[in-house]
Amino acid sequence: TSSLSLASAVVQWQASHGRNHLPWQQTRDPYRVWLSEIMLQQTQVTTVLGYYERFLQQFPDVASLAAAHEDAVLALWSGLGYYSRARNLHKCAQAVVRDFGGQFPRTAVQLATLPGIGRSTAAAISGFCFGERAAILDANVKRVLTRVLAFGDDLSVARNEKTLWALAEDLLPTGDLQVQMPRYTQGLMDLGATVCLPRSPNCLICPVQTLCKAAAQGNPQDYPVKTRK
Ligand code: ADE
Ligand code: SF4
Repeated sequence: TSSLSLASAVVQWQASHGRNHLPWQQTRDPYRVWLSEIMLQQTQVTTVLGYYERFLQQFPDVASLAAAHEDAVLALWSGLGYYSRARNLHKCAQAVVRDFGGQFPRTAVQLATLPGIGRSTAAAISGFCFGERAAILDANVKRVLTRVLAFGDDLSVARNEKTLWALAEDLLPTGDLQVQMPRYTQGLMDLGATVCLPRSPNCLICPVQTLCKAAAQGNPQDYPVKTRK
């Protein structure tokens, strides 16, 4: 089916053309992956690198972070901006210790109950660390998938957003999930960041071009549709 080949195409492309040497890709420790995902939400990779290493030196695990004073956490975040991320990070570490015995839960549904972890971040963590078959749908991935599917319904409407989540789930890999979920999740992120750009998607070098409805129509720029902010 076409959904199978989309996942395969993304997985294969990620292995050869995606980003594979970032520090948080060398581990399946959910603490480290979670920290990277929170930092990367609103901050570029090159900026995150230094902050990430300093943070882990001071707080190498969830227990040390949970035990810290909030001021110490905020000091390490200083310069990254969006400081509610740091406060939620601290609260989340405390919740993991208090409610989960110091072990991050292994499913996206449970991860999403924690402070500062939304549905997409939860799925990224469970996919990267545990190979869970869970869909991500951050802004970059929304752009890629709405274009591939020529999904033109207004994403400001909650029901349409819900439909896109269901379609994103249908497109997930079905093979060896421990290998394919990290690659597929990272591949969609990398495609959105490096190929399927907002203004000028590079369809000529895109690994999913032959599967992409918007490319066939010649109007990738018309997706996604979002009338309200
Ligand atoms: N942005 C959000 N998550 C990311 C990741 N895992 N790698 C690169 N950029 C990201
Ligand atoms: Fe985006 Fe073009 Fe690739 Fe479609 S073919 S996913 S529009 S870059």
